[in-house]
Amino acid sequence: MSVAAALVERAASASPLIVQDAMSELADADELQFREEIERYPDPLVDIPRFIDGKELVRKLAFSLHEAGISPAGEIVELGAGTCWLSAELARRPEVRRVRAVEFSERRIRSLAPVAIAHLGAQADKIERHVADFYAHGLEPGIADFVFTDAAFHHAADPARLVRVAWDLLRPGGCLVLFREPTIARLRRTRDHGEEGEHGDFEREYTSREYLELLSDGGFLPERYTASGGWTTPRARAILHPPLSWLNGTLFAEYTYVGRRPAIG
Ligand SMILES: C[S@@+](CC[C@H](N)C(=O)[O-])C[C@H]1O[C@@H](n2cnc3c(N)ncnc32)[C@H](O)[C@@H]1O
Repeated sequence: MSVAAALVERAASASPLIVQDAMSELADADELQFREEIERYPDPLVDIPRFIDGKELVRKLAFSLHEAGISPAGEIVELGAGTCWLSAELARRPEVRRVRAVEFSERRIRSLAPVAIAHLGAQADKIERHVADFYAHGLEPGIADFVFTDAAFHHAADPARLVRVAWDLLRPGGCLVLFREPTIARLRRTRDHGEEGEHGDFEREYTSREYLELLSDGGFLPERYTASGGWTTPRARAILHPPLSWLNGTLFAEYTYVGRRPAIG
């Protein structure tokens, strides 16, 4: 067995796995089938690190947290965690006690997540993997200091309900972070949904205003911060600085959304 495979095996046995069978009526059967049977990961030991590093996910997260002035700590829940790379990256922080990663694809969370955890060198026993529908996660209310989504909020068939799910999970004063959720730009109204688009209709598109309204309608104090599209190309680097950064809302719409649950109420 290679060293990488041994580290993955160790992560898989150290990270608790809890399977919740009941799904809500909102869990998308097409997406679940896509994740379980169609999506291809021919060599997860190569594919998952390539996905994390190729998309510069760790650096993008650090940038967004810095922009938003957020230091994740305590108890965290990630909804729609997929490969769990974000849960793993947050678990690396000593101030984070535990991350509960909720994902309805058992294949993703059982076999792909340990690769991300091992690749990022996270402490696997701090990451509790929950195979569960994010509308019916089975977790206790008020347990989280932070709730995160990474490119998963826009997969919710009922986004207002998912905002309520996050609200209920958070303690008063807690914070919901919507990271890498695609935003419709003023001059770019639609996105190509790639292979996902061929197997269902589970990706939605929202304007920046719609994300902020969803948060405020759910009781959160909504905030929006510029996010990074990456650093590898000159274009991606250029949009982080004036004058191109002034066109973010018109052309690129790279944002992170934050909802703060008031400490009282
Ligand atoms: C675009 S992926 C992003 C996942 C993760 N951030 C990553 O990079 O691997 C969206 C994720 O949401 C999950 N998802 C969609 N609907 C869900 C539901 N009802 N409950 C739990 N997870 C769900 C999908 O299975 C998928 O893993």
